[in-house]
Amino acid sequence: MNKTISKPFLLSSEDLTKEDLELIFKQADFFQTSYKPGDKFEDLKGISVALAFFENSTRTKLSFEIAAKRLSAEVMSFTASTSSLAKGESLLDTLKTIEAMGVQIYVIRHGSSGSQQFLQRNTNGIILNAGDGKHEHPTQALLDNYTLLKHFGTIQGLKITIVGDIFHSRVARSNINVMRTLGAEVKFLGPGTLLPRRLNPWNVDQIDSIEEAIEWSDVILVLRLQKERMNSGLLPSNDEFSDFYGVTLKRISKKPGIVIMHPGPVNYGVELDYAISSYPNCLIQTQVTSGVFIRMAVLSLLSEYLKN
Ligand code: CP
Repeated sequence: MNKTISKPFLLSSEDLTKEDLELIFKQADFFQTSYKPGDKFEDLKGISVALAFFENSTRTKLSFEIAAKRLSAEVMSFTASTSSLAKGESLLDTLKTIEAMGVQIYVIRHGSSGSQQFLQRNTNGIILNAGDGKHEHPTQALLDNYTLLKHFGTIQGLKITIVGDIFHSRVARSNINVMRTLGAEVKFLGPGTLLPRRLNPWNVDQIDSIEEAIEWSDVILVLRLQKERMNSGLLPSNDEFSDFYGVTLKRISKKPGIVIMHPGPVNYGVELDYAISSYPNCLIQTQVTSGVFIRMAVLSLLSEYLKN
């Protein structure tokens, strides 16, 4: 077997060692520098990949699909709303049914935290977590950190503030682990109702204002308000959130060169001023591009477990 990552699945950022991260970034860089439109690599030739998204997605689903196809996989897309789940079939029976058709790699997004961990215990296939509830989104953290690595040359010593709805964010959870493993210093900024409820489970320092965050940080990672996961009463209004925590061109003009990132989808006018999208150090589109190469790298490395 060629070199690969330490576990035969990717459920959580905690599955990845520093060596795994470096290997994934090296492989992503190989794909990014060598891929030409129309090329097909053969890393997943003869391997079937199922994309099973039980929650909405644009970036993650499409980039996994493009990545798998560029690696010559046979790709099938499973749509929960038109499946036999609607007739009462369980999640596990659904997985077993797809497995019986010969699928070996499953890219799964699900609204319940821990679903992919449960499924991995019940299959011989390889599961990639494409987001589970409020828990983890490991490939998002990989693509965010790969984007930073390409921009700064190193992540060691970077000062990063994650701003917004941290409590509901799987992106924040995965990024804290990956950023710290790579030597960044991470802080939070957000309203008290949208910060982790158990007092500081990750021992992350909090910053008191957006102005202070901009002054301290090399990078601001802005998060969307996840209204779909909120009970009522967590925020007085979007406008008030915007006044206290919104990232605007005027605010960042005090810190030329600061990098702005957002995993998407963005609610412009709430957490981010639309004018930011044309700011040269706004890396949102670069993050999307990185996502394809990171997902090619992860699929390619995990496929080694199917080849011995
Ligand atoms: N960042 C992210 O997960 O976006 P999608 O929900 O569009 O996949």
